Amino acid sequence: MLYSEKVMDHFQNPRNLGKMENADGIGEVGNAKCGDIMKMYIKVDDGIITDVKFNTFGCGSAIATSSMATEMIKGKSVEDALELSNKAVVEALDGLPTHKIHCSVLAEEAVKAAVKDYYDKNNISYDPALFAEGECPHCHE
Ligand code: FES
Repeated sequence: MLYSEKVMDHFQNPRNLGKMENADGIGEVGNAKCGDIMKMYIKVDDGIITDVKFNTFGCGSAIATSSMATEMIKGKSVEDALELSNKAVVEALDGLPTHKIHCSVLAEEAVKAAVKDYYDKNNISYDPALFAEGECPHCHE
């Protein structure tokens, strides 16, 4: 089978799907490879992500990885959320077909963009290198 049971589960029953009113950070990113887009909302309390929501015009793999990513960052500090790699999300889903790995990058980037927005809105200083654009360090795409 092409997709793992976990991928199918998160695709068919995405966790934390939807919009969030009064989000503390919103990240919107696009996938250069396919044109799909993803929006991620985070609620932050005392540096801890207490709630996450996402919306996507993306494929099934983008939905599954974002759903898993929201579960992985909920309850974590914003710093920990920045450490989340698309690779870790893919592993948590028991893998993705190689040609779908780029879809998981959308989830990682959306989380980072949401944290950056939170930092910007709250005048929290950070190292811009954390959000440097360019080649994805994980998948080199
Ligand atoms: Fe675009 Fe998967 S094909 S995110």
